Amino acid sequence: MIDLTGRVAIVTGSGGGLGRSHALLFARRGARVVVNDLGAGAEAVVREISDAGGVARSARGSITDATFVQHMVDTTLEAWGRVDILVNNAGILRDKSFAKMSLEDFRLVIDVHLMGAAICTKAVWEPMRAQGYGRIVMTTSSSGLYGNFGQANYAAAKMGLVGLMQTLALEGAKYGIRVNCIAPTAATQMMQDILPDAQLAMLQPEQVSPAVLALVSEHAPTRAIICAGAGAFELAHITLTQGIHLPGQPPSAENLLAQWGELADRQGELVPDQGFDQSRHELTKAGLVFTQQK
Ligand SMILES: NC(=O)c1ccc[n+]([C@@H]2O[C@H](COP(=O)([O-])OP(=O)(O)OC[C@H]3O[C@@H](n4cnc5c(N)ncnc54)[C@H](O)[C@@H]3O)[C@@H](O)[C@H]2O)c1
Repeated sequence: MIDLTGRVAIVTGSGGGLGRSHALLFARRGARVVVNDLGAGAEAVVREISDAGGVARSARGSITDATFVQHMVDTTLEAWGRVDILVNNAGILRDKSFAKMSLEDFRLVIDVHLMGAAICTKAVWEPMRAQGYGRIVMTTSSSGLYGNFGQANYAAAKMGLVGLMQTLALEGAKYGIRVNCIAPTAATQMMQDILPDAQLAMLQPEQVSPAVLALVSEHAPTRAIICAGAGAFELAHITLTQGIHLPGQPPSAENLLAQWGELADRQGELVPDQGFDQSRHELTKAGLVFTQQK
């Protein structure tokens, strides 16, 4: 049984949708929860938690505002002494085909999802390092992992969060900070116009939140990308094929295209532990031994 008693969690954008469901579940498992959102939804969720016997406080403001976020973290530390869990969940959509998308909307979506998550994570990073414990979840999306028509801004932001997770999982490891991604599918206001009603009925946020609870638990993995929806769960990986090595300095593009089949062969595909593994893999195929200077 996952017990979050004594833990303090911040869930961004938890005035509704998936965030609300995560916050309610964390509170039911004993965590004290900071419910962040732009609007009055935050207070409503705090009331729901309190009515059910849990402990929560609201933090109404935008995660894009670093001053607000710092204040949210500082007041949480003053009130409850620690922050153990951060779920970067807040988000918006500004869907349009790339041809019709303004750069303002591109920037706005990057700002909320990617910069918002970076700002919140930065604010809890030192307290988590100092206490030697932290659980951070980035909310990515199948749109970022695989692409979706009309979501160039959102997909870029969501894949940015995967990169942020990959590096922070490495940097946080020795401080007991584990960082993971959730790629949810759920019937929330964000999905209303995207999926038909029958499918929306199958996709309740409560079906996703157990995956997030697992990611913030004491025995959480780190550097996982878990996909969740309708009670189904999968892991996504960024992989590297065994690939080829071409002779010649430099090798020829024509030979590269000629050997595309072998290049793309997924037999023996790797999941690198870190970016340098690509260089190691390549230098090894070139007959050299990879050494890292620092
Ligand atoms: N619903 C899905 O199927 C799905 C799929 C993939 C990813 N996601 C991601 O899951 C997360 C939650 O989405 P949802 O479906 O629950 O949507 P939602 O719109 O119901 O919830 C998002 C919440 O974030 C809040 N928010 C937006 N901008 C904010 C800001 N600047 N500061 C603070 N709060 C802000 C909104 O007010 C809203 O309450 C998002 O990051 C979304 O991209 C959702």
